[in-house]
Amino acid sequence: METVRVNLGERSYDIVIDSGVLSNIGERLKGFDFSKVVVISNPTVFNLYGDVVINSLKNAGFEPLHVIIPDGEEYKNYNQTYQILTELLKNKLDRKSCLIALGGGVIGDITGFVASIYMRGIHFVQAPTTLLSQVDSSVGGKTGVNHELGKNMIGTFYQPRLVWIDIDTLKTLPKRQILCGIAEIIKYGVIWDEELFNFMENRRDEILNLNMDAFKFIIKCSCEIKAEVVSRDERESGLRAILNYGHTIGHAIETETGYSRFLHGEAIAIGMNLEAWLSEIMGFLNKKDALKIKAVIDSYGLPSELPADLNADKLISHMKLDKKVEAGEMKFILPEKIGKVKIQKGIDIEVIRKALS
Ligand code: NAD
Ligand code: GLY
Repeated sequence: METVRVNLGERSYDIVIDSGVLSNIGERLKGFDFSKVVVISNPTVFNLYGDVVINSLKNAGFEPLHVIIPDGEEYKNYNQTYQILTELLKNKLDRKSCLIALGGGVIGDITGFVASIYMRGIHFVQAPTTLLSQVDSSVGGKTGVNHELGKNMIGTFYQPRLVWIDIDTLKTLPKRQILCGIAEIIKYGVIWDEELFNFMENRRDEILNLNMDAFKFIIKCSCEIKAEVVSRDERESGLRAILNYGHTIGHAIETETGYSRFLHGEAIAIGMNLEAWLSEIMGFLNKKDALKIKAVIDSYGLPSELPADLNADKLISHMKLDKKVEAGEMKFILPEKIGKVKIQKGIDIEVIRKALS
């Protein structure tokens, strides 16, 4: 069992990573002073892992409730938030209650949001079941839902009490979803950890064959990096922005394609390659490293190039409206070498256009 600590003073918490740990979640939660526990999930995940979690909670002496919302990003919205809040009120959850988010990033984000606003804040635990949620969204306390005028626009910073990662859940995750998590792990390598990047480069076959030792290692490395960054800058006033490498262009691609053509990790993979080339054009990154980043992305079968039908000017206009824009200036995370990035604002539009062409 691997444990990574997120150090945030009295809001610090552990990230626990191992095979088969979902069946021990109840035992671990006994150590907290929770009155009631409620599992929040969707039918896909609950059908696979609901029983093991509910039984574990019962065996530990809890009388668990569960609330199931439909599966899909389109349900990460205010309406579902309200429905969950209604269930919690009907079941008389008090301020010592705890929600357990059992699912991917959608379930984690909405559960954290509900926990942060129900009775001005109750406890919540993340039990992430996608690779992306295990290495990124379950850690760091960004919660929220989408608004029809923008993705993730309604939310809070609210930390979980525990992140409980059962890597065996990856065995049922579709390959396309696995690859989205791989894109985020490559991101950690580029922004922070050359060794992790090299591991992703050299151990591709083991990773694609779902070797669980390899997964335990790459998930632990990713969580360590995210924990370190979040501990230093919880509310993204500076350093935390580096986690958005690939996201300025990636988000623009997702917006332009209506969130239907590419999954998040795929759009980020294209964004990482193009932002590496932007860095190369600006003279911050050498060509060899830019080519290496592209080669690793390609080696997993992730997309790295902009499809020909996407218009650079349209993408740039989306970038100008992104949450990351500050005082009208777009912000890019640019690699300087593998393992190190800089935050760059005020880049000439012509240079961005060149990177997109
Ligand atoms: P997701 O939650 O939609 O899960 C993807 C699909 O996999 C769903 O259909 C889900 O039901 C299914 N699934 C989940 N676990 C499974 C398993 N073990 N076996 C089989 N199927 C399984 O998508 P995601 O990629 O996990 O998360 C994306 C969301 O995360 C987005 O809403 C994004 O905005 C958010 N996000 C948040 C943060 C953050 O810091 N809070 C960071 C990155 C992304
Ligand atoms: N996923 C980016 C962050 O948590 O800051």
